[in-house]
Amino acid sequence: MVRRRRPPFVAGNWKMNLRLREASDLARKIVGAGPDLADCTIVLIPPFTALGAVAGVVAGSAAALGAQDLFWEDQGAYTGEVSGPMLKDARCEYVLVGHSERRQIFGETDETVNRKVRAALKAGLSPIVCIGEVLAERDAGRTLERIDGQLARGLAGFSREDMARTIIAYEPVWAIGTGRTATPEQAQEVHAHIRGRLGESYGHEGATCAIIYGGSVKPANSYPLFKEEDIDGFLVGGASLEAGGFVGIAREALRAYREEK
Ligand code: PGA
Repeated sequence: MVRRRRPPFVAGNWKMNLRLREASDLARKIVGAGPDLADCTIVLIPPFTALGAVAGVVAGSAAALGAQDLFWEDQGAYTGEVSGPMLKDARCEYVLVGHSERRQIFGETDETVNRKVRAALKAGLSPIVCIGEVLAERDAGRTLERIDGQLARGLAGFSREDMARTIIAYEPVWAIGTGRTATPEQAQEVHAHIRGRLGESYGHEGATCAIIYGGSVKPANSYPLFKEEDIDGFLVGGASLEAGGFVGIAREALRAYREEK
């Protein structure tokens, strides 16, 4: 029996790409893609510089705005950082925390992730908390152990109410930007494990948390991935930089969703 959950949650992480004009053009094309996407939650996550431009485009549409990172203090002498209240002020509803590029290139740890997630919640933002194993961990059969550690430390001290506002993105690091997607079965195994753990720790709020998959998602693989019981949507990198690819991913997920309704 398929436990059908919620409509697809599809977020586009534009990373360090796009100038102002390009960003607003892309946002306009996605927002204008048509009423058939109204059943999806669509989140656009441009670089900080383009938040204002994209906020103007998504205002009054069904799409929401997100940021790629935040710092845990509200304000002060933290050169180069951006806080939760600032993102809220810039009309963000979501913020990525602990993306694997932040962890690998900028040295973020589960402890800094925890501080950032708390700051996001305090500011009224929904954190999209990214977790996932590297290839050596998968090959060594240590994927679920890694996931458990990231969840336990990253979400330490969380309440059920916190969990109800949090999204988990499972992104196997070996699948990000490599063109090598996890198979639906591989992704489902980890998603089911995450849901089980969250259910144990946070009851109903944990068991019903949105758990999205990321790592080389394209229109061609989003349907079979979304067919899996515990995959609630996608965090899309490369394919989100092109309106057709991003909208195609959302449409394919919606097709799977509607078949099961
Ligand atoms: P990708 O990136 O879709 O380009 O693999 C995913 C991500 O980094 O969130």
